Amino acid sequence: MPLRKLIAGNWKMHGLSSDLEQVAAIARAAADYPGVDVALCVPAILIERAARAVPGFAIGGQDVHQAEKGAHTGCTSALMLLDAGASLTIVGHSERRDAQRESDSDVKGKAEAALSVGLNVILCVGESLEVRQAGAAVGSVLDQLEASLPSTLAATAALAVAYEPIWAIGTGKIPTSDEIAEMHAAIRQKLRDRFAAAGEKIRILYGGSVKASNATEIFGIADVDGGLVGGASLTAADFMPIVAAAG
Ligand code: PGA
Repeated sequence: MPLRKLIAGNWKMHGLSSDLEQVAAIARAAADYPGVDVALCVPAILIERAARAVPGFAIGGQDVHQAEKGAHTGCTSALMLLDAGASLTIVGHSERRDAQRESDSDVKGKAEAALSVGLNVILCVGESLEVRQAGAAVGSVLDQLEASLPSTLAATAALAVAYEPIWAIGTGKIPTSDEIAEMHAAIRQKLRDRFAAAGEKIRILYGGSVKASNATEIFGIADVDGGLVGGASLTAADFMPIVAAAG
């Protein structure tokens, strides 16, 4: 049985008060697709206002600190996200793994911290172009996943994995359908190996240059249980056709 699809927007460092009207427009339009889970991961400082503006709609963070609290200037804890009204968070996005030098074990800690307070998690993995060209994409992503996955799943929050080839993010390039299918099947097998039957229920999202024009094809691939969408999630006009493609 295919899993219910999750389409999550990642606003990255975009979004001011004036963009809350797009959050509202997306939440309103998402109600027309009751068979699809829709979420927006907005900048931390916008979470509370976004969550208040669209009660019942899933608003998320883009990162979380692994510690419960403490001397971590500029960071946001899982409880803070929850307290602000978030119901999920992204962890391990390649832009953070790269620019903030986050390791697999940091990402694992972040996923565990978020799940432990009841936040749903989207855990990102993906290979560089060099690794893809060297024919090592699947092995490298599985190694990354193995080291980044939480030790156990949570009873009250769901884990999703997002496969995001780094070379496809914001570039307009996407892997072939066969390459996506191969990677998602390998990730599914790894999740089964790690979590047995529960691994079948973990949604595997594809991310990297998802647009209205390619969404139907990507969402039709086996084991693609939704998408993590960056640039095309900033407005309802760009994002809703992608949600519709999953519906
Ligand atoms: P993109 O970003 O859709 O703009 O390629 C995806 C992501 O980084 O999550």
